[in-house]
Amino acid sequence: MSDIINKMGSILLIDSNEKLRNRTINFFRGSGHQIEGVSNYESAVELLNRQSLDVIISDIEIPGGDILSLVRLVKERDPPIMLIVTSPIEQVSAVIQAIKEGAFDFVRKPFNQGELYVKVEKALEIKQLSLEAQNLRGQQKLMYKTYDLVGESPKFKEILQIIEKIAKSDSSVIILGETGTGKELISGLIHYNSLRAGKAFVKVNCAALPDELLESELFGHEKGAFTGAEKVRIGRFEQADGGTIFLDEIGDMSLKTQAKVLRVLQEQTFERLGSSRTKQVNVRVISATNKNLEDEISVGNFRKDLLYRLNVIRLDLPPLRERREDIILLTRFFMLRYSSKMNKKIHKIHPMAKEKLLSYSWPGNIRELENIVERAIIMADDEIRHEDIYLPIDHKYDKSSSMDIDIPDQGISLEEIEKKVILLSLERCDWVQKDAAKLLKTTNRVLNYKISRLGISHPGWIKNN
Ligand SMILES: Nc1ncnc2c1ncn2[C@@H]1O[C@H](COP(=O)(O)OP(=O)(O)OP(=O)(O)O)[C@@H](O)[C@H]1O
Ligand SMILES: [Mg+2]
Repeated sequence: MSDIINKMGSILLIDSNEKLRNRTINFFRGSGHQIEGVSNYESAVELLNRQSLDVIISDIEIPGGDILSLVRLVKERDPPIMLIVTSPIEQVSAVIQAIKEGAFDFVRKPFNQGELYVKVEKALEIKQLSLEAQNLRGQQKLMYKTYDLVGESPKFKEILQIIEKIAKSDSSVIILGETGTGKELISGLIHYNSLRAGKAFVKVNCAALPDELLESELFGHEKGAFTGAEKVRIGRFEQADGGTIFLDEIGDMSLKTQAKVLRVLQEQTFERLGSSRTKQVNVRVISATNKNLEDEISVGNFRKDLLYRLNVIRLDLPPLRERREDIILLTRFFMLRYSSKMNKKIHKIHPMAKEKLLSYSWPGNIRELENIVERAIIMADDEIRHEDIYLPIDHKYDKSSSMDIDIPDQGISLEEIEKKVILLSLERCDWVQKDAAKLLKTTNRVLNYKISRLGISHPGWIKNN
């Protein structure tokens, strides 16, 4: 397993001395690296176009070209490639120039293989670290220790047990659940408890960007790939190499991008926008959505084969109202967090305040609870009271409004139940489909599809076909 993660390097050796080339190639192949050798500039460029590389080892003299053009070409086309220059000491000023332009390091000729090997390992390590540093920048700091996750309810414990079992596998995971149920937190928990924990954890919100930008975010682009693409951009999949990518809100991804993601899942390959060079990556994919992907598939918004690849392991996070045992536990957890943050000593909560929290339906789940506790801590003096808790009035948890569905002895089809629920919601929303879709937490398109499939109609609806 660790072999897969500690990916060996893909190396290009440029040297016109055939004997030296063969010796070096044999040495590196023997230690498990992938290495190709060429004797001149033209073949080097040709290989660079064809293959994704980690390190180039080049003699200072390149027949048919020169080292500075090579450095510049690499910088422009594929900046993460680490270039090591080999040269006799007499040419040291040319070497310094190459390093100034962006070459990574220098090995004096004649060299022994061990010395070169150490430099290549160093280059690979730095390349990996700089990719990880890029990921860390701009990422919110979150702790992903189990003690940062609160929950005693059977449903939640079951989720933790599953995570313990699956974290160390390399299978794709899809996390489903309403907004604020902890999908992002759980994705981090999986990564940081996996064998990839030391490698990058890259998060992408697929709903935050328009299609074209999302593609270049995920796969990167070459200089000039489209108007405004002034520099090469390394995509998120490349950054996540060896680690995990978290595709959040995957239900919002366009079909075109879905096709490309499917290919990465199937073959672990992709191309940057504007490039024909195929790149290979080793990435574990965790995805999340609050949409019902089966419904999205039935209206043609989501690829069935992609879902099949994503949900090798599926985690359904329960809404807070279905794990009421955890409400007070979570409240206490957030009380601790925010009172220490605000330098206040509030450890008590009044029974009436508890009752208020317990009788609410929590449509925004744990995130909403966290916000409400934070606010209560600001307001409270020494204990949280009923009036320190501000809840929107229209979401009171009311058992009488929860649905009563009788299952007759002879059984009932899911479809019939679905029809009942849709009719109920339509009635509640004066037959305005848009509002009913909102109430049912689905899209207009999905509801519309179901309405016509279930043969629901209303005289007030204008037929437009
Ligand atoms: N079990 C838990 N224990 C403690 N805090 C939690 C737990 N689950 C979630 N949280 C906290 O609740 C908030 C919401 O969680 P998160 O962002 O992971 O939800 P989400 O499902 O990704 O929401 P959305 O769908 O809106 O993106 C975060 O601040 C997170 O730290
Ligand atoms: Mg989220």
